[in-house]
Amino acid sequence: MTAELNAPVGIIGGTGLTTLSGLEILGEHPSTTVWGEPSAPLVEGRLGSQSVIFLSRHGNPHRIPPHQVNYRANIQALYDAGVRTVIGVNAVGGIREDMGPARVVVPDQLIDYTWGRPSTFFEGDLEAVTHIDFTWPYDHEGRQALIHAAAEAGVPCSDSAVYGATQGPRLETAAEIRRLERDGCDIVGMTGMPEAVLAAELGMRYVCLGLVVNWAAGKSDHIITMAEIEEAIEQGMSGVKRILTDSMAE
Ligand code: HPA
Repeated sequence: MTAELNAPVGIIGGTGLTTLSGLEILGEHPSTTVWGEPSAPLVEGRLGSQSVIFLSRHGNPHRIPPHQVNYRANIQALYDAGVRTVIGVNAVGGIREDMGPARVVVPDQLIDYTWGRPSTFFEGDLEAVTHIDFTWPYDHEGRQALIHAAAEAGVPCSDSAVYGATQGPRLETAAEIRRLERDGCDIVGMTGMPEAVLAAELGMRYVCLGLVVNWAAGKSDHIITMAEIEEAIEQGMSGVKRILTDSMAE
């Protein structure tokens, strides 16, 4: 992972990744920002030789639902701590046929279906209106580092996918998933946005490391259960952690 010299890499852990085992913890910093408090204290540590700041997106313990995460505070707190490269780890549902449970995926595009979430830093008392370019929502080099680390670690990983960001906290209907599929979405999750765009607004590199934890609604012959999600997390999260660790070594 190409971090700016000596700058810590930010890792935002989602469902199934509330703490990062293997992280040598150097300190924990409660912080606050002009946008309010992040979901949890920032955990400062090292993965190999890379300094890392870990943030649990849903709090620790896991208690903040996707639509109530203060994404602005999370990204701002990481920025204020010197982070310029962020890896967002996201549990997702699989839509494309190769996106079965426990699959690891590094998406290259997204479609935003979320609503009502504060999703920009550029509002309020502005000197000028700002429209950032968001053609490529995920950092190319950062994606290559994750894909390369997955290959080195022997973790099967899809190197492109369109992430559909839905509002939650409920899961989708089968018809909604068919619509997402027609739109070109390969995976679906509730936390990919506005995290990605907020990082972009601050000029940070942002990548998503997805773990498929269930077939999306209507994509299997059964309804979605927490038991199935927990099983996929159990199966797949060790691969995600290996990719994180190995990508730091690059
Ligand atoms: N839909 C939306 N978000 C998700 C899913 C899903 O099926 N699985 C994990 N996060």
